[in-house]
Amino acid sequence: MNGSEKKTIYDVFDQESPMATEMRRLYSNIRHHHGNPDMRSFLVTSSHRGEGKSTISSHLALTVARFKGKKSLIVDADLRRPRLHDIFGVPKEPGLLECLEGKLDPLEAVKNTPVENLKVIPAGSRVVSPAHLFEGDILAEIFKKIRFYYDIVIVDSAPVIPVSDPMLISSEVDGVILVLLAGKTPRNVAMRARDILLDANANLLGVVVNNLSEVLPYYYDYKYYGYREQEEGKIPGSA
Ligand SMILES: Nc1ncnc2c1ncn2[C@@H]1O[C@H](COP(=O)(O)OP(=O)(O)OP(=O)(O)O)[C@@H](O)[C@H]1O
Ligand SMILES: [Mg+2]
Repeated sequence: MNGSEKKTIYDVFDQESPMATEMRRLYSNIRHHHGNPDMRSFLVTSSHRGEGKSTISSHLALTVARFKGKKSLIVDADLRRPRLHDIFGVPKEPGLLECLEGKLDPLEAVKNTPVENLKVIPAGSRVVSPAHLFEGDILAEIFKKIRFYYDIVIVDSAPVIPVSDPMLISSEVDGVILVLLAGKTPRNVAMRARDILLDANANLLGVVVNNLSEVLPYYYDYKYYGYREQEEGKIPGSA
């Protein structure tokens, strides 16, 4: 429609694919975590860059919106390396940045997608170092508001080890999902990411192992992995 060469998620998403199956499984695991029937907002993070946060969060959001018919919202909270506007083919601004600056109501930052139940809040215009923006009370106000209007909120974020943004956002969501890249994320790095989140009192739900380069055996189904719940002292699936 915009004539660009870029493929959006709607071009590549296949609802019969193993990925879609895994995303449905992931959602059913996280939505009733430890007996809490009202898990509705989730932060997706990882230890470092490029481990698949944006890929997993966007496929999860699309899956939930398409298959469960829930009013779903995905928020691009990675202000340093925003990607959701490209993935979903929506304008990049105004977005979360303008909301954090107090210039925009979060509901006015919401963009429509071709999937009726799925909306996107993009990152907004880029800033060099946005950490301080996540520190004020406004973050809590934004989440309170969007939680009221949407059944499911999924937040794509920066990685936890280099920056503090995801740690700050973790207290505004019901649960956190940590993405690991199979064959790439070293165990000690994964443990460090886990410890940062637990020290911040995040409700770490579990890890998603992104098997991008297919280093795991075939029984891990396709490129995407498996989901494991957080267990004391363990980061399952990490290399
Ligand atoms: N399972 C996968 N199958 C195919 N491509 C993938 C998969 N996971 C990630 N990728 C690709 O790897 C690259 C990095 O993935 P993605 O952008 O999701 O990672 P990220 O953790 O969000 O990165 P960043 O830290 O830069 O935000 C992208 O080009 C993405 O399309
Ligand atoms: Mg990303």
